[in-house]
This record gives sequence, C-alpha cells and structure tokens, in this order.
Amino acid sequence: KTIQWFPGHMAKARREATEKINLVDIVIELVDARLPESSRNPIINEIIGNKPRIIVLNKMDMADGAITDYWLNYYQSKGIRAMAIDAQHNKGLKQLQTQCREIMQPYFDKKMAQGVKPRAIRLIILGIPNVGKSTLINRFVGKNQAQTGNKPGVTKAQRWLKFEKDFELLDTPGILWPKFEDPQVGLKLAASGAIKDQLLAIDEITLYVLDFMKQYYPQRLLERYQLTASDLDDQSTTDLFIQMTAKFGYQDDYEQMGQRILHDFRQLNLGRVSLDRPNEEASHA
Ligand code: G4P
Repeated sequence: KTIQWFPGHMAKARREATEKINLVDIVIELVDARLPESSRNPIINEIIGNKPRIIVLNKMDMADGAITDYWLNYYQSKGIRAMAIDAQHNKGLKQLQTQCREIMQPYFDKKMAQGVKPRAIRLIILGIPNVGKSTLINRFVGKNQAQTGNKPGVTKAQRWLKFEKDFELLDTPGILWPKFEDPQVGLKLAASGAIKDQLLAIDEITLYVLDFMKQYYPQRLLERYQLTASDLDDQSTTDLFIQMTAKFGYQDDYEQMGQRILHDFRQLNLGRVSLDRPNEEASHA
C-alpha cells in the first residue's frame, strides 16, 4: 500500500488534486489526529485557492484527547475550520456533514433568493496515504459504492458518490505525499504506521517511540513492560532497549523486540498518544 514518491509522481498528484479541488464546493483535508501537522502536506495551501476547507483530524480514538483539543483550538485561532472524527467507529461524521451544510448555507440562501433550488454539496477528501480517506468514503456512502486502494497515476473518470440526499462525494480521494524532508516528521509518520517500516530501520523507529514515551508518558512504559523508574531514568534509551530485549527473552534480536513495541504502540497498548505536541507547529510550518 505504500507508494514510492518520485518528483514526477508528486507533480502528477499535485495536478490531479488541483483538478479535483476545482470540481467541488468543500475540501475535506484529512489528517491523523495523533500528528495533525506532520500528516499534512502544506502544498494544499498553495493549490486550494479560496475553496472552503475543513481540516478533519481523523483517528481521534487513537490520539491524546487533551492534545487534540489543543490542536482544534490552534486551528480555530488561525481562522481555520477544524474538527476531530473517528471514521472507523463512525464518530463525528454527522457533525462534519452539519459543518459542510453551514458553509454552503449562505450560498444556497442567495441562490434561493434568485429562485434557484439548492443542489447537492460537492466534496472531496484529500490527504496523505493512510490517514483514513477510504475509510471515511466508505462510512459516508456505504461499502458497496466506494472504491478503495486508489493510487495516484491511475487516471479514470471521476464519479460522484451520492449520500444523505444533499451530498456528492468524488469517488477517488485526492492523495498528496507526506513530508519526508524533516527527519522528525519521518519518524512520527513511521511510528504511527503511516509509512512502511522498510523506509526506516525498525530500531530507529523503536528508539524514537521509547524516547517519546519516556518523555511524555513514562508511567505507561513502566506498567506495560514492568519497568522501574530507574530503568527509565538512569540509562540511555538505547540501553533501555537492550535491557528490554534481554528481559523479554529475545536475546539479541532487537528487530523482534522493536516489532513488539511498535505493535503495542500502534494497537494502543501504550494508550492514546499524540506525537505532534503543542508549540511544535513552528518546526513544521
Ligand atoms: P487512506 O485511504 O487514507 O490510505 O487510509 P485508509 O482508509 O486505508 O485507512 C488506513 C488505516 O487506518 C486502516 O487500517 C483504517 O482501518 C484505519 N483507520 C481509518 N480511520 C480510522 C479511525 O478513525 N480510527 C482508527 N483507529 N483507525 C482508523 P488498516 O486497514 O488496519 O490498515 P493498516 O493498519 O494496514 O494501515
């Protein structure tokens, strides 16, 4: 499912996204609530023009709720519409539809005054791979209608998927590439599972996750792996990783231990975690 992004693909993805944006009333920019800034592609700001846009923080069930609230306030303070949903479990989707209707209401009111009946609201879902675009399309229109596994570069006729009587959704999401340039962002994307593990070494991602958990959620590490405070405080993260690998019987197989930690992290066995934290926005701007 991971896409190899080359400059030609990026140019094409950008062109396709721009063309699709021109067809709709509202852009739903889908990001991962755990890393709302790192899972955005800033290119969207260049191609979106004046089109209304809602930044939708998906997978809110996996993110730290307090930090999700921070980000929602942050976007609001910048005059950007934002909301959090959990497409997987159908949370927040009605509110998202309500927001879209509110955005269009002034336009439809004006049209009504001219004697023109409101038409369906046209939407596109746009975002980097793995933020849940296909899942959201499926939730909106139902499994049988939506198509998944779209890749950039596979051109086909645009189809509109109708739902809720007053919406039409482009059947293929707009796909933009993730921000690879910043190594921190790359690590966050890898830790969240957004980019495949082959791109970065498992132990590198694991050390990042351990380091992050040590810093922000140490208690969860202690509990999950029956560690002591001094295991965390009195040695480097690398030594902690080595200690854990031995402790859980993996001998020198760091890859296995790493997989286990990443699995725990991604399956919420270490709790809900947000990787983009307050006051980090400047580094991703
Ligand atoms: P994409 O089209 O943007 O590429 O993303 P897609 O819908 O395929 O979703 C990527 C993964 O994220 C899927 O997991 C999907 O079930 C999960 N997902 C989507 N929305 C939510 C959400 O709101 N909450 C949670 N917890 N998960 C969500 P998957 O099929 O298991 O794929 P993977 O684990 O192999 O990446």
